[in-house]
Amino acid sequence: MSDEAQELRNRQATFAKELHGDDVGSKTGLKALLSKNREAQKEAVTKYLRHWDGKTDKEAEQRRLDDYNEATHSYYNVVTDFYEYGWGSSFHFSRFYKGESFTASVARHEHYLAYKAGIKAGDLVLDVGCGVGGPAREIARFTGANIIGLNNNDYQIAKAKHYAKKFNLADQLDFVKGDFMNMQFEPSTFDKVYAIEATCHAPKLEGVYSEIYKVLKPGGVFAVYEWVMTDKYDENNPEHRKIAYEIELGDGIPKMYPAQVARDALNNVGFEILHDQDLADSDDEVPWYYPLTGEWKYVQTLSDLATFFRTSFIGRKFTTTMVTVMEKVGVAPKGSRDVTLALEEAAVGLVAGGREKLFTPMMLFVARKPEDQSESKSKDKSKK
Ligand SMILES: C[S@@+](CC[C@H](N)C(=O)[O-])C[C@H]1O[C@@H](n2cnc3c(N)ncnc32)[C@H](O)[C@@H]1O
Repeated sequence: MSDEAQELRNRQATFAKELHGDDVGSKTGLKALLSKNREAQKEAVTKYLRHWDGKTDKEAEQRRLDDYNEATHSYYNVVTDFYEYGWGSSFHFSRFYKGESFTASVARHEHYLAYKAGIKAGDLVLDVGCGVGGPAREIARFTGANIIGLNNNDYQIAKAKHYAKKFNLADQLDFVKGDFMNMQFEPSTFDKVYAIEATCHAPKLEGVYSEIYKVLKPGGVFAVYEWVMTDKYDENNPEHRKIAYEIELGDGIPKMYPAQVARDALNNVGFEILHDQDLADSDDEVPWYYPLTGEWKYVQTLSDLATFFRTSFIGRKFTTTMVTVMEKVGVAPKGSRDVTLALEEAAVGLVAGGREKLFTPMMLFVARKPEDQSESKSKDKSKK
């Protein structure tokens, strides 16, 4: 690891301790938010929002791409508690079937990816951008595999480790700090790799995909739910660009790419694509973005009411108002309101992108690293 990367890693670890404190396990959601170090929270919010200034020109875009690591690190420092409060400990979307509860659909979405990747008991698996470990815990239970979660956010790693211990999965799971654009694992280490709604934080998809290719064993499989703009998206259409920008701003993403860019990137680094499907491009009666809408008709079970209330339009307005008041009277740290506003913008963009089918959070690619590397169609594996 370069001195610069080591220095950034140390700085982020120290900052995370200062911001969140030592005891990260005992508090989640709003309770965790209220216990933050005020000054550090202000700094984290400023670092996250400094690049999202409404500008979508090439220079502004390049600044965001260059600062992807710090910007994403800061983003997850400030949103993790909101995510856990509103959504749970798996930070991703899923398809919904009639009569199926929110938690069942989240788990099924994870099982499906594990099934498509062919993950089985005894496999050594890498979870790229693992969040607080919700999917890794579910997939470890579902398959019996051993999973290492990679994440560049220290707070989330500490939480993931805490939950693994709490749920008696510490033998099967480990969580390590690292940048997925520059992995420190030995080449050809993992039987399978998966990524759920995480690699969209990469400044360039070839960068993260080539790292995944490197650490997979020959013949190993990579399965990903990618966030991409669909073929309907036109970068030169201001309405479309606005939607993409709302998603970028509210989700800490330097640049949303079209599906074809992801497909090309997989091919370019040498993968053989086995499955390529936008799971959102379906006639599902209950759309994937329903928890972010205010449409009660989609709620499937009584147990989903609380989640729906927190994530829906009215619920989010309630949270923003509550957080604004708490910040005003000094209970919530400064910047908390700005975070809820950015998340609101994300929700608006995600629903608009989903309704128009301009955006999908579940572009499923299953890709194989060829057994024989000379089979590889790689054009330039070192591209970053
Ligand atoms: C939307 S969350 C998804 C988390 C998890 N896959 C899940 O579904 O619960 C995206 C994750 O990617 C991680 N991430 C973003 N950029 C990263 C990077 N450069 N290196 C490693 N992890 C990164 C974030 O810290 C976060 O945990």
